[in-house]
Amino acid sequence: MGIEKLKTVLKNEKTNNTLILKTPIIGASGTYGYNIEYADFINLDYLGAISTKGITLESRLGNDGDRIFEVQGGMINRIGLENVGIENFIKEKLPVLKEKKIDFLLNIAGNTIEDYEKLALIASQNEIKALEVNVSCPNVKQGCLEFGLNPESLFSLTSKIRKNYKGFLIVKLSPNTSDIKSLAMAAESGGADCISAINTLRGLGVDIKYIGNKFIKKMVQGGLSGSCIKPVALYMVNQIKNAVKIPVIAMGGICKLSDLFEFILAGADAFQIGTANFQTPSICTSLALELCEFMEKNNFYDFETLKGAILNG
Ligand SMILES: Cc1cc2nc3c(=O)[nH]c(=O)nc-3n(C[C@H](O)[C@H](O)[C@H](O)COP(=O)(O)O)c2cc1C
Repeated sequence: MGIEKLKTVLKNEKTNNTLILKTPIIGASGTYGYNIEYADFINLDYLGAISTKGITLESRLGNDGDRIFEVQGGMINRIGLENVGIENFIKEKLPVLKEKKIDFLLNIAGNTIEDYEKLALIASQNEIKALEVNVSCPNVKQGCLEFGLNPESLFSLTSKIRKNYKGFLIVKLSPNTSDIKSLAMAAESGGADCISAINTLRGLGVDIKYIGNKFIKKMVQGGLSGSCIKPVALYMVNQIKNAVKIPVIAMGGICKLSDLFEFILAGADAFQIGTANFQTPSICTSLALELCEFMEKNNFYDFETLKGAILNG
């Protein structure tokens, strides 16, 4: 199968900073582990990259209590960024990624600008090619408002990371805003090479049953993901594409071939697959193969030609 047809080039035309992916399919952060967790289910060669679980400066145990709540068409999670921390990542996870030649985006998260600056520096020192910055984190120094919800703080955060990191810089936007365009523009002017979107939407899962003369109740507040968020993600990707010149990596409910076409029409240059991996662990490979088969059958020479046909045809 001519998987090389799926080669995808993400390029910041202003700076020429470029990320080359074998395919436009990326395993989304928090659903793909750190490196080879999916190797028993799929051939990782068909992936453009994996985005690692969000890494913080120190390791984190994450939240107590219910962390996952299933809803119609998706799930709510409140994992709380459980992760091994950057030091362990560099010592234990990075060597495996290198040895197995797995392309990856290092997804990072912090509570202060200094956290992000330090993580960016460590990424530089370890020659990490691509950084995906999760800005849906509480800025503890500024009233715990998410970094990604205020254009000025997002600009400042992105510029400071840019100073410490010269590789391919992706800023991952939160959808919990009424003005995604200003946020995308702030990230671009701060020096981002690419935007990825969307992170999870705020949601509340409620379970209530009447058993033995009383109500048994559960409420789980967290991030909503899966196919139920796809229309929101399509809207956000489209808004972002119309606001910036840098490439856009789209995610939010992708689980089938037609979703890829829909996101291309909305403005996607590549895709991440998250929640769908939990239902079908082989989904990333099968999507890459299906996309390839479709292109071969319909004489699309490469991914750019397919995108052109969808956008201009
Ligand atoms: C269990 C779980 C954990 C996640 N952890 C992270 C994370 O650590 N960092 C991050 O940027 N996004 C994280 N996300 C968000 C996903 O990467 C993705 O942006 C979101 O789920 C939307 O895509 P989907 O509908 O395909 O899942 C997580 C999502 C889920 C479901």
